[in-house]
Amino acid sequence: MLPSQDFSGYKTPFYAYDLELLRQTLDAITACVPANACVHYALKANASPVILSEIASKGFGADCVSGGEIKIAMAAGFDPSKIAFAGVGKTDEEILLGLEAEIGVFNVESREELEVIAGLAAGCGKVAPVALRVNPNIDAHTHHYITTGLAENKFGIGMDQLPELARYAAKSPSVDLIGLHFHIGSQILDMKPYAVLCQRINALQEILKSEGISLQSINVGGGLGIDYEQPDLHPVPDFTDYFRTITDNIVLDPGQTLHFELGRSVVAQCGSLITRVVYVKHGVEKKFVIVDAGMTELIRPALYGAHHLIQNLSAHTADSLIDTYDVVGPVCESSDVFATAISLPAVSRGDILAIRSAGAYGEVMASGYNCRTLNPSVYY
Ligand code: LLP
Repeated sequence: MLPSQDFSGYKTPFYAYDLELLRQTLDAITACVPANACVHYALKANASPVILSEIASKGFGADCVSGGEIKIAMAAGFDPSKIAFAGVGKTDEEILLGLEAEIGVFNVESREELEVIAGLAAGCGKVAPVALRVNPNIDAHTHHYITTGLAENKFGIGMDQLPELARYAAKSPSVDLIGLHFHIGSQILDMKPYAVLCQRINALQEILKSEGISLQSINVGGGLGIDYEQPDLHPVPDFTDYFRTITDNIVLDPGQTLHFELGRSVVAQCGSLITRVVYVKHGVEKKFVIVDAGMTELIRPALYGAHHLIQNLSAHTADSLIDTYDVVGPVCESSDVFATAISLPAVSRGDILAIRSAGAYGEVMASGYNCRTLNPSVYY
């Protein structure tokens, strides 16, 4: 929800998180998640220890993509047996860390990686639980940079290579092939690609079963989108529709478990980037609101052309005049723009703005470019 807090006393820019909304979101997931399923929170969306311990305390699993994420997940209280470790470039050190921690599953992205995991597990007398990540070649109709399930992407194993690799895994004594893993992209609001994904999964399962390979788990990944346009209309995403699309379309064997890796839909709406107006610059053709946050604190608009709703928290009177502005950061890059030609109640130097729906892929993607530093987050 729009932060009602008075943030004027805090040093800007900083991230502000509405923990009550996070809890409501987690409860909404728990209320409709299918009975045989586990939701692994994708740490890449936000790895703040405060947020992680809220999520871990509700019994969620974790989806990690680095040794660092595995360590921080365990420190926050996630059960290692509910950690899935994904990523195309796992190093030996990271694989050994996962083996040592006895994580739930390694989501394997290539034959080359499977061979390394098998060798390292054998070397320390362990059996690595693995799921093969399949690239289902489905267009999720999302942003080019966050679509992952097309054959042209670097992720996963091609459908045609899968049976051979599954046979290899099934025969390796130091790996236990427990499942298949999929992920078709992110910020997906149309449920049809998920239905298509389920049909691909069903067909693959039939092929594998005909070869005598049966699996304990199917992981459909994450990707559920959120409403960036009107966050207060949809503060909690429609998890019911999402889970129903999957359960209506997937055919599971008796006892088979279903896994999800949700990131954005869990944390995006509970976070805002709070920033102060440094100058209102009257340019040649435009008025620029120059704020003290930039692409260094929130890179999504610069990197993906992403839209985030911007609100002037200092516009106290309802009859404030509306004006048109470009909202830009201070970084020496032309792409350091948060919004172009937006209408805002008249902005003055010193006003506090909220850049909304920034809880996912915001703080975690911040950088120190221009030797800038982010101030401590505020949780309310
Ligand atoms: N599982 C896998 C294998 C993934 O690659 C991802 C996200 C997720 C789960 C979680 O997806 P989510 O539920 O959050 O959509 N930085 C971009 C998003 C990159 C997503 C990368 N993978 C952005 O700011 O939009």
